[in-house]
Amino acid sequence: MRIDILTLLPQLLQSPFSDSILKRAQEKGCVEIHVHNIRDYSTHRQKSVDDYQYGGGAGMVMTIQPIADCINKLKSERDYDEVIYMTPDGVILEQSHCNTLSLAKNLIILCGHYKGVDQRIRDLFVTREISIGSYVLSGGELGAAVLTDAIVRLLPGVLNDETSALTDSFQDGLLAPPVYTRPEEYEGHKVPEILLSGHSTKIEEWRYEQSVQRTKERRPDLLD
Ligand code: ADE
Repeated sequence: MRIDILTLLPQLLQSPFSDSILKRAQEKGCVEIHVHNIRDYSTHRQKSVDDYQYGGGAGMVMTIQPIADCINKLKSERDYDEVIYMTPDGVILEQSHCNTLSLAKNLIILCGHYKGVDQRIRDLFVTREISIGSYVLSGGELGAAVLTDAIVRLLPGVLNDETSALTDSFQDGLLAPPVYTRPEEYEGHKVPEILLSGHSTKIEEWRYEQSVQRTKERRPDLLD
């Protein structure tokens, strides 16, 4: 998979992709992540990338030209499955979207800033608009990092234990059950007996019950 991220703040996207699972995924060749500075594409004398909004009002709007030129250049080089715009007024990100997007070959992710991008970029280029939650961030970069992480960990060969993404919370519509490791007892708090029994069917049943109970308590909406 190849992911191209368009941003005004490329530095913000450096650290999330240079550690741990995302770093290894790139080293193993499972994913290529390319970060593009939108400002590099501005043909304006002062490399400007934003302007006042028509109709008045506070806040600048990201202009069409540099974004359109960057997307058109990328599209002339390869086909893209989706052009995703990170925005608080997008569809709230769910695991099912990540599962679908993990099947793509090439993705563009556009990060908004200020008041966002000129609506015509959304009308002409964007195929999906995604929000990572009902709150407003300073820009789309953190959302792009969240989305990229959630997609890339699903790619074949990225996680060491191939089954571990399948047992994540949400993959079966339920939250994950509690997990324990050594010591067997900490200040009087013991690991549930069943997990020490070695009885794999009973352990699976217990985990399933715990998942259902947790989901009922914390995310009843998932059970609807
Ligand atoms: N940009 C600003 N807020 C955002 C959010 N909640 N999700 C995605 N992109 C954003």
